[in-house]
Amino acid sequence: MVTRRVARDIVRQWEKMQTVYIPLREIRFSRMLDLLDEWLPPKFHALDLGSGPGSLSVRLLERFPGARCTAVDCDPLQLALGRSCYGTMGGRLNWVDADLRRKDWPGGLPTRKFDAVISTTAFHWLTPSQLERTYRRAGELLRRRGILLNGDRAPVGPSSRRLKKVSFDTYMNVKRSHGLRDPSQPWSTWWNEVLRVEELRPLVEERNRRFPRHSESDLPASAHLRYLKKAGFAEGEVVWRDLSDCIIAAITT
Ligand SMILES: C[S@@+](CC[C@H](N)C(=O)[O-])C[C@H]1O[C@@H](n2cnc3c(N)ncnc32)[C@H](O)[C@@H]1O
Repeated sequence: MVTRRVARDIVRQWEKMQTVYIPLREIRFSRMLDLLDEWLPPKFHALDLGSGPGSLSVRLLERFPGARCTAVDCDPLQLALGRSCYGTMGGRLNWVDADLRRKDWPGGLPTRKFDAVISTTAFHWLTPSQLERTYRRAGELLRRRGILLNGDRAPVGPSSRRLKKVSFDTYMNVKRSHGLRDPSQPWSTWWNEVLRVEELRPLVEERNRRFPRHSESDLPASAHLRYLKKAGFAEGEVVWRDLSDCIIAAITT
């Protein structure tokens, strides 16, 4: 098993690497937590989908001492890093190995009722039909007056292809000015660091079996809102945007 010191070091590099891709990542996290603060009572249970090493879950639990969080991911490496780095945060954080591509993924959850379903930088890994089903499952898992928050890239559109292009190109320029020269480089550098740790290699091999190919979708926010409506959410909207990056919010009745 990976030691806490090694896990902390790799997770710290993860946080740094993700910020190169999403320059306003920290602000996006804060806005999501601000929305939860406004909408929910102080004691609530959140479900973090595609949690990675717990980036959003841990920020949430640090800000809301009365909250609990269930972190879901299907990458054994990310789950091991998160568990080793943060543990259960005094019994308030639990980690679930579940694959959102599978229809039955909620089967492994500790409960079927949450106050919030949250996610960052994960849903663009899903195909449109998997995303549509994930929103449907999220709607089923939420209590009345529950909230879903998805912070991820979702370009503007589809009403103007030219505005979509100019906002995407501007976003890429902003990233370059924050140090992103070659889009694949920070990601591969992080993975090379992981592979230097011998005890992590079997987890990477298992991860590669689970993700034989990495595909990304580029659905506009309008498609997300359409799926949320079909999933039965009462209202949905883009509530924050930084060019191609945004927070999509939806509430149950
Ligand atoms: C870019 S990371 C984001 C992690 C974290 N939420 C953050 O904001 O840093 C995307 C995460 O989504 C997870 N993920 C992608 N597809 C998934 C799926 N089908 N089921 C569960 N997790 C998935 C990946 O394993 C990865 O940990």
